[in-house]
Parts: sequence; structure tokens; C-alpha cells
Amino acid sequence: MDLFEAARAARDRAHAPYSRFKVGAAIRTGSGAIVAGCNVENAAYPQGQCAEATAIGTMVAAGHGRIVEIAVVGGEAGSGILCTPCGGCRQRIREFAGPDTPIHVFDAGGTGRSFTLGELLPFSFGPDNLGF
Ligand code: THU
Repeated sequence: MDLFEAARAARDRAHAPYSRFKVGAAIRTGSGAIVAGCNVENAAYPQGQCAEATAIGTMVAAGHGRIVEIAVVGGEAGSGILCTPCGGCRQRIREFAGPDTPIHVFDAGGTGRSFTLGELLPFSFGPDNLGF
């Protein structure tokens, strides 16, 4: 799957010397483009950034405004350890996606499963709550 490959490639470039938990995320946008990002940790630990946040920032900077689907690649190949997006990233995804948007999570070998955003973040607060 092209989205998995993009997320896995971004994961290889993660800056995760502290947790050693590399993550890559790739978004298919409303226009069919794929944009990816990785986690970027920092010696001042709280300043670290999740892969999804990097991918979303890259998406917006490239002029895209809609997440059609997103893949997140977490644990080592064969580990079965999946990086289900953290709570903050679920909300970040929500800004650009709806309850039916697929979120695919994999280990680096491609083992994984899919959820919808509505499953991971039910009864969410989004732009529509503000009338947008
Ligand atoms: N991480 C992500 O990139 N995405 C998530 O959804 C959860 C966690 C990163 C943050 C940190 O660099 C490492 O994984 C360990 O928490």
C-alpha cells in the first residue's frame, strides 16, 4: 500500500534518540497527494513532536486541507506493536477529517489494523461545533 510505504520511509528518518520509538505517518489528501512526517524528539523532552503532527503541518504548508486517510507506522517489524495515535493527535487529525476517515496503524513490517476516526475519538469536538 502506497500510504504504508510512505509512512515507513518517513519512520526511517525519525529523530527519536530518547525513546528510540520511531514513528512515521502518511496522509492521503483530498487531492490525492501523499504527505508524510516523522516524530521529532528534543533534548528538552516536552518539546518533542509526534509523527502525525509533523505530517499534518507538512500537509497544511503544502496547501492541502483535507485528510482522506492516514497511516501510522510504529513498532519494529514483526513486533505487532502498533502506534495508535495519541489523544492529542486524534484531535489534530479531527481538524481535517470526519468520523468515517480511516486510520491505519502498522508495525514496520506491515502488520496492522484499521480504525475510523469515530472509533478512536467518539463524540469529538471539531470545526462544526464552532459553526465552521
Ligand atoms: N509518538 C508519535 O509520533 N505518535 C503518536 O501518536 C504516539 C507517540 C511518538 C512520540 C515520541 O517521540 C515517541 O513516539 C514515544 O512516545
